Amino acid sequence: MHPLQCVLRMQRCQRWGPLASVSWVLLRTCRAHSGLPSTACSSPERQQEDGVWKDFSSRLATGPTFQHFLRNASVPQEKPSSEVDDPPPYLTVDELSGRQRKVYLETYGCQMNVNDTEIAWSILQKSGYLRTSNLQEADVILLVTCSIREKAEQTIWNRLQQLKVLKSKRLRSRVPLKIGILGCMAERLKEEILNREKMVDILAGPDAYRDLPRLLAVAKSGQQAANVLLSLDETYADVMPVQMSPSATSAFVSIMRGCDNMCSYCIVPFTRGRERSRPVASILEEVRKLSEQGLKEVTLLGQNVNSFRDTSEVQFNNAVSTNLSRGFSSNYKTKQGGLRFAHLLDQVSRIDPEMRIRFTSPHPKDFPDEVLQLIHERDNICKQIHLPAQSGSSRVLEAMRRGYSREAYVELVHHIRESIPGVSLSSDFIAGFCGETEEDHFQTVSLLQEVQYNMGFLFAYSMRQKTRAYHRLKDDIPEEVKLRRLEELITVFREEATKANKAFVGCTQLVLVEGLSKRSATDLCGRNDGNLKVIFPDAEMEDVTNSGLRVRAQPGDYVLVKVGVLSCF
Ligand code: 5AD
Ligand code: SF4
Repeated sequence: MHPLQCVLRMQRCQRWGPLASVSWVLLRTCRAHSGLPSTACSSPERQQEDGVWKDFSSRLATGPTFQHFLRNASVPQEKPSSEVDDPPPYLTVDELSGRQRKVYLETYGCQMNVNDTEIAWSILQKSGYLRTSNLQEADVILLVTCSIREKAEQTIWNRLQQLKVLKSKRLRSRVPLKIGILGCMAERLKEEILNREKMVDILAGPDAYRDLPRLLAVAKSGQQAANVLLSLDETYADVMPVQMSPSATSAFVSIMRGCDNMCSYCIVPFTRGRERSRPVASILEEVRKLSEQGLKEVTLLGQNVNSFRDTSEVQFNNAVSTNLSRGFSSNYKTKQGGLRFAHLLDQVSRIDPEMRIRFTSPHPKDFPDEVLQLIHERDNICKQIHLPAQSGSSRVLEAMRRGYSREAYVELVHHIRESIPGVSLSSDFIAGFCGETEEDHFQTVSLLQEVQYNMGFLFAYSMRQKTRAYHRLKDDIPEEVKLRRLEELITVFREEATKANKAFVGCTQLVLVEGLSKRSATDLCGRNDGNLKVIFPDAEMEDVTNSGLRVRAQPGDYVLVKVGVLSCF
């Protein structure tokens, strides 16, 4: 899923006080100590940076200690890596073992799937499998799939045709190639996949990854094997995901799974099951480990992250009722008790003041003032909120069962902007939902103009079986009309995002360096607090944490970049 986004580029050839030769400065942060050195520059031009700088150092000075965190976390028991689950009666421990067979994993769909891939790999690695990034040398190919729109599933069917050829060409002298479908598509289509594509050996739904070693052992004996059971409590709390890229500066941390919202267009409640939250202690433990590994950013993940509710600790299960955003309602009975998102966000952000915290995807109904205040106050929580609107028409929103009107949504946007000055906003929109008129479409266009999002994800409606819309509404907007409306939304979105993001031009942004720019080997790329991509030259710069030493920025460094040019696409 690619966002419609803008890219900020460095302003070149600009004199900028003591940094005349460079208009970017490196803030290299150090894991061994918990503070950044102060700067000794006071020219007027430098004062602007000093603001950012002091802000950053004062946060570190007043931040919580490591002991503070430890007091709040209890560590879940993890199995030692050599320990294998008891085998079922028909398999020996030896048969369950991967015996160094090589697995190739391919991920489609959302960030949850990226995280699920890391979980699946963590489980297989413990079971004795090796990982390969070379399709040709794989003994097992696993596709982690998405069902959200018809197109996502079609991509997998096409990929299976290619893999079929690979499987049939496999030399008899080699171990037979096994192919597995994991995730949402396995859950949605179940045995239909096994019947339609005989070359698929295993199916594992989103709650069945612990069963992968057994499924693969069964498949090795020549049978097809499937586990698509959904769970009420599986959160993989004790599985530490193994990151795909060891040099990554940021990681996803799953905090809850499933969805109870039942928006009428959405397949997710059927593919990922009921909403359940991971215990706070295990989330904190994972974030702490990531911080110790030197990661500089975590994104808390879930289908409705801000509906988080950890009910695992009995003492917090009192009858505190839920505060919904003003003008919002939910499709389910109000839930009570448990540790809520504001508590989790507070605790996570205290672990490492140098670590940026993001979260996605939230639902607009769950933005009580505690959450907004925390985002405003806590410097390492990014001032960036994804606020999926889906439509600008109250009539369509009702048909979608979103639980809010256009007016309530707009009021929430104003409230968020008042509570968090400078916040970046992004959204999801669906064009051509059942019964959407030109007037409804115009309402969505006008919402884009009214809000001026910084980033967006726009889709044409795709009817999904099992959903409420499938059973009760008519998919009556012709495909060409859906596409025309989508194009119109994209055009308006770009115009408005360009206006919104122009505010960054001429400003200094604190950028977390990710690595080389994909488009140019001489540029680096990173992201600002609002999650916009920033491109700047890979050249020597002043290291202000190391008495002005001249260095090249590395992934994981913070760099101050003065923005010159904006391009949106
Ligand atoms: N058709 C088109 N877009 C959809 N989305 C969810 N279900 C559908 C569907 N059936 C979009 C929504 C959601 C995003 C993840 O995908 O905008 O927020
Ligand atoms: Fe696709 Fe939704 Fe499943 Fe993510 S949760 S993989 S977006 S269907």
